[in-house]
Amino acid sequence: MDRLDDLRRRAETVLGMGGEERIRRQHEAGKLTARERLDLLLDPGSFVELDRFVTHRGREFGLDKIEAPADGVVTGHGTIDGRPVAVFSQDFTVLGGSLGEGHAEKIVKIMDLALSSGIPVIGLNDSGGARIQEGVTALGGYAEIFFRNVMTSGVVPQISVIMGPCAGGAVYSPAMTDFIIMVRGTSYMYVTGPQVVKAVTREDVSHEELGGADVHAAKSGVAHFVAEDDEDALGLVRRLLAYLPQNNVDDPPRSEPTDDPTRMDDALNPLVPEEPTKPYDMHEVIHRIVDHGEFLEVHREFAPNLLVGFARLNGRPVGIVAQQPAVLAGVLDIDSADKGARFVRVCDAFNIPLVTFVDVPGFMPGTAQESGGIIRHGAKLLYAYCEATVPKLTVITRKAYGGAYDVMSSQHIRGDLNLAWPTAEIAVMGPEGAIDIIFRKELTEAEDAEARRRELVEAYRAQFANPYIAAGRGYIDDVIEPRETRPRLIAALELLQTKRQTNPKRKHGNIPL
Ligand code: HXC
Repeated sequence: MDRLDDLRRRAETVLGMGGEERIRRQHEAGKLTARERLDLLLDPGSFVELDRFVTHRGREFGLDKIEAPADGVVTGHGTIDGRPVAVFSQDFTVLGGSLGEGHAEKIVKIMDLALSSGIPVIGLNDSGGARIQEGVTALGGYAEIFFRNVMTSGVVPQISVIMGPCAGGAVYSPAMTDFIIMVRGTSYMYVTGPQVVKAVTREDVSHEELGGADVHAAKSGVAHFVAEDDEDALGLVRRLLAYLPQNNVDDPPRSEPTDDPTRMDDALNPLVPEEPTKPYDMHEVIHRIVDHGEFLEVHREFAPNLLVGFARLNGRPVGIVAQQPAVLAGVLDIDSADKGARFVRVCDAFNIPLVTFVDVPGFMPGTAQESGGIIRHGAKLLYAYCEATVPKLTVITRKAYGGAYDVMSSQHIRGDLNLAWPTAEIAVMGPEGAIDIIFRKELTEAEDAEARRRELVEAYRAQFANPYIAAGRGYIDDVIEPRETRPRLIAALELLQTKRQTNPKRKHGNIPL
């Protein structure tokens, strides 16, 4: 009996976390505790905790006088929609969630478990970083985690939720996972904090301005999603996982199809404006085609000239990549190429078919883009599409000009089904640019240069700005009415369920980074 009492007392200490006062402060800061978060994330009653009696190993700087229940991190496994996942949730009420040797070993253990069992890992981050008192063992602990992030990459999905501080080298663990969700107002990520910034650059900057959710969602592209609060963030994890398989040899989960696979949508036919420079919203195209119009957009605020995200077609998850003509005419630039490449590789790693909607005037011209490395960054997207072996379906809605035609999942780089709407324009470049180059001499000498130019542009349009030359070559499998797009994509997806394609064996390719 004594032994049982002892166990209960010890268990209570662990559950009491950093004590009432620190829990109150955590709540006052608008944050839930590590355990409350797991309750919201996982199916009720499914959490199985491991290593709850691990405590810190530090002896220096008075650490021996401090209790560290669970060593500042709650780890284990549970289920989400009935599917097993491995989890860790850092406890800011215990030594600021800082990472020491034991803390790191706990995370490492569930990462190893996830890898050997083929289940996703979800990390809830809320930590002051490396535990100062534990010194190099804390740094070693991070390195052990980083290494596993890399070994796990592309084998099981890794999702990071940033729910408090995440500073210094600690940011590189989330940075190497597949998705980062940040909570607005209570989370921040940076390599060096405001004090160091001030000392080095004399710049006065707040936590929020330096590494808040909005900065990382819109400017740096570090965060894939922004949540309003902890509950919203954990709900997002559950939604996201519903599109992902358990691991790289599993298929993504098919949900019961409840939207008619033969459904046609007449409103798609007039959606692309006659005037080639007039914008329209590609979101509407996507909404009208996918199951129930549901699109989980990834990186919504970052490089909005390209849309990426998850949807379903007849219950099957697909990854959507689409130009957004309503932003910068859907041009491909450095950020959108990075965004697209990353998403294509996530989908390819996890067997999620790609559906690409193309309306691209080309790559962004200008010195800023050239000196910023548009060649290097654009190459990432091209590389990612070329190496992807998942089913690749493409719909050209309007422009597919220049190199961007090749890049955007063209048949030449193993697009499986390439469709075009009648509004498609496929050519080396747009009419105005083309005429100025090939008729420069004639136009300088012409009496009424402007009238002659208009005439030539019209002739070029009639000749090239349509999908029929490409379709005549077989580069486009069919030109279809926009209203038919959904059933055509679904039929192709069914056909390609058994697609098997491999790339040549090698140590690894050399994607231009
Ligand atoms: C040990 C830490 C700690 C740390 C916080 N605490 N960070 N203990 N090691 N790294 C403890 C505090 O002493 C405090 O203990 C409790 O956590 C809460 O911290 P507060 O400062 O009271 O909270 P708050 O005001 O909210 O500020 C949070 C904070 C600040 C901004 C995170 O604590 C901070 O700046 N911490 C240091 C951050 C840092 O520089 N970490 C190293 C990053 S480099 P009590 O007992 O009072 O509750 C890194 C390298 C990774 O991580 C290596 C990769 C290669």
